[in-house]
Amino acid sequence: MEFSIKNGNPGKQRSACVVVGVFETRVLTEAAKTLDKNANGYISDILNNGDMEGKAGSTLLLHKVPNTVCKRVLLVGLGKKSKLHDKEYRNAVQAAFNALHETGALDAVLFLIEDPVIKREISWKISHTVIMAMKSVYHPDQLKSKHEGSKQHLRKVTLSTTSRVDSDIGEKALQWGLATAHGMSLTKDLGNLPPNVCTPSYLAELAMKMAKTYKLKATVLEQKDMERLGMGSLLSVAQGSSQPAKLITLEYWGRKKKEKPVVLVGKGVTFDTGGISLKPAAEMDEMKYDMCGAASVLGTIAAIAQMRLPINVVGIIPATENMPGGNATKPGDIVTSMSGQTIEILNTDAEGRLILCDALTYAERYEPEVVIDIATLTGACVIALGHVASGLLSNNEELAMELLNASEQAADRAWHLPLWDDYQEQLKSNFADMANIGGRAAGTITAACFLSRFTKKYRWAHIDIAGTAWESGKKKGATGRPVPLLTQFLTTRAARKIP
Ligand code: BES
Ligand code: MN
Ligand code: ZN
Repeated sequence: MEFSIKNGNPGKQRSACVVVGVFETRVLTEAAKTLDKNANGYISDILNNGDMEGKAGSTLLLHKVPNTVCKRVLLVGLGKKSKLHDKEYRNAVQAAFNALHETGALDAVLFLIEDPVIKREISWKISHTVIMAMKSVYHPDQLKSKHEGSKQHLRKVTLSTTSRVDSDIGEKALQWGLATAHGMSLTKDLGNLPPNVCTPSYLAELAMKMAKTYKLKATVLEQKDMERLGMGSLLSVAQGSSQPAKLITLEYWGRKKKEKPVVLVGKGVTFDTGGISLKPAAEMDEMKYDMCGAASVLGTIAAIAQMRLPINVVGIIPATENMPGGNATKPGDIVTSMSGQTIEILNTDAEGRLILCDALTYAERYEPEVVIDIATLTGACVIALGHVASGLLSNNEELAMELLNASEQAADRAWHLPLWDDYQEQLKSNFADMANIGGRAAGTITAACFLSRFTKKYRWAHIDIAGTAWESGKKKGATGRPVPLLTQFLTTRAARKIP
């Protein structure tokens, strides 16, 4: 799909479809008013007949509207004007695209970006319209013999206003939206791939390909390299599997090398059976999504590389399967992490923290500005925050606030949870420096407490995406989150540093 930004009169668009908003109850937006005036009240008549009230997300397709040069007009409900927040706007845009895809329109001109979304500038509306448009054409059908996307006609989308938009601001917002959408779609593709395809080796090869495409530096450490580094914790997760583990690094240097990088660490468990602490069978297929942290790191790097963002970012991905095999780790085993700390593995299903801790120690060699890890780490996070917000924990208040701001700006929710020392006690072991589980209470926090023991040398935040990385049920599929949050975080940081 191609996008452009223009200003003009909605009645004068030679297009297959012009899209304008209607507020509740039957209040026309500027663009709708213009069309209505040209058509001598044709649109208000239809509304007054009771065919549309303007409820958020509703749509009405009109043909042959008098005195227009477009083939169709699509009315989109925006809900109450005083309640037009992010969510309503994004829903309305989504509804508009869904309706457009039902028509045969090859192109469309949308007059939605000038509608007043509370606390949002036009650049936000441009970026998020692009993201929603790209979402509407995403189908996880790479492995179906017939692609659903092939039914779609829409090729050209013009984002239009009745008044002028600053072209620099508009272009930037458009590029940001496209890059973020591209990163999200890569993240979704990886998440949705079946676990027999998306293995640790597959992720490693993809990182190499990305390095070629975007001129990045990729490095893949093999198991013997990890042995040499003393990554006993990471390797203990891999030892039950016949797929070799990989430690993947992908470096993007958008500024001078002497400037410290932001390090992103992504959990890359390409399938989590639980190991010897085997998970129940129901919905176990969804544990193919246990590499969504890794996928979000790759997606975010793709987004910032596409934008050529002036910032240094290093992605580190510990990738492995968690399988029960003859050689698998047993509950009670004690392993030594790269940091030298010993861990009693009481539950082999708490494997994410075991691979992350060694990757976090490995991150030290980059002398990071900050480190952020992203992981589908705990079922407890789904219980606490559902599928709405990611869990955010940090050893630095300022960094946490920075991430919360980015999350707010990106409409990619996160919620700050405490990391008080009081919780550390739950990780006590009689036989090792710590246990890998802390009991049922505060499971998300004790998991982060475990990680905090490996992140003492730098400012660090942890994002638990167990509830937000994918959807279950009929709409089963990866969401591409938290790529918007991370891309926004890096964009804001890069802007702060210029020149
Ligand atoms: N990958 C899971 C976490 C998970 C569970 C994500 C459900 C999304 C949905 C993780 O490796 C895991 O199994 N965690 C355990 C930890 C427990 C054994 C302390 C969990 O949450 O049950
Ligand atoms: Mn697990
Ligand atoms: Zn897991």
